Amino acid sequence: MKFFIDTADLTEIRSLASSGLLDGVTTNPSLIAKNGGVFAKVIAEICEIIPGPVSAEVAGTEYDQIMAEAKVLRKIADNVCIKVPLTMDGLRACKHLSNDGTMVNVTLCFSAAQALLAAKSGASFISPFVGRVDDIGWDGMQLISDIVDIYNNYDFKTEVLVASIRGPNHVIEAAKMGAHVATLPPAVLRSLFNHPLTDKGLATFLADWAKTGQSIV
Ligand code: E4P
Repeated sequence: MKFFIDTADLTEIRSLASSGLLDGVTTNPSLIAKNGGVFAKVIAEICEIIPGPVSAEVAGTEYDQIMAEAKVLRKIADNVCIKVPLTMDGLRACKHLSNDGTMVNVTLCFSAAQALLAAKSGASFISPFVGRVDDIGWDGMQLISDIVDIYNNYDFKTEVLVASIRGPNHVIEAAKMGAHVATLPPAVLRSLFNHPLTDKGLATFLADWAKTGQSIV
């Protein structure tokens, strides 16, 4: 499973990139607004830190505007992935951009039917939002399971990028289902390292090691 980080916070991206675990980054207009800075400059800096796909979302909703914005965004760096909304115009743009060899992430997916359309439009990634589906009392993980099954049935090349992740369980369930990518808020990625027995075991080992009076270097 690939790990993307779901943030536009350059300090967090730099810090987590040092773990060697990051395969890409996703941003959206809300994350860009939250962190501030000039959009194109922020994306360019992220692309320098992380060589994998970096999703930059268009703000246009009409086909012509989406294509015009995609043209600007994809010039920022070779690893920019154009993020388009799951609408008819968004998928039309997706088809065109994908045919031209541009990576496209189709966002705001809330149903298996939408995911099927995105795959047929040649998307590199489909982003189903598990947390927001859970928020309205539906089953976000069932959505992931359905999409993975459908894509496997037809051998679609589109990768399932699990988005709107709220905690470690979403990540583990998605991995069990064989989803290709999870995009994690920084706090969720950090939480994956933690286990109380690791902390307890390490404290014991360090205390016992100190009793030996030795040092390794
Ligand atoms: C990522 O591409 C999505 O925009 C993001 O995961 C949405 O997450 P949220 O529902 O926590 O805003």
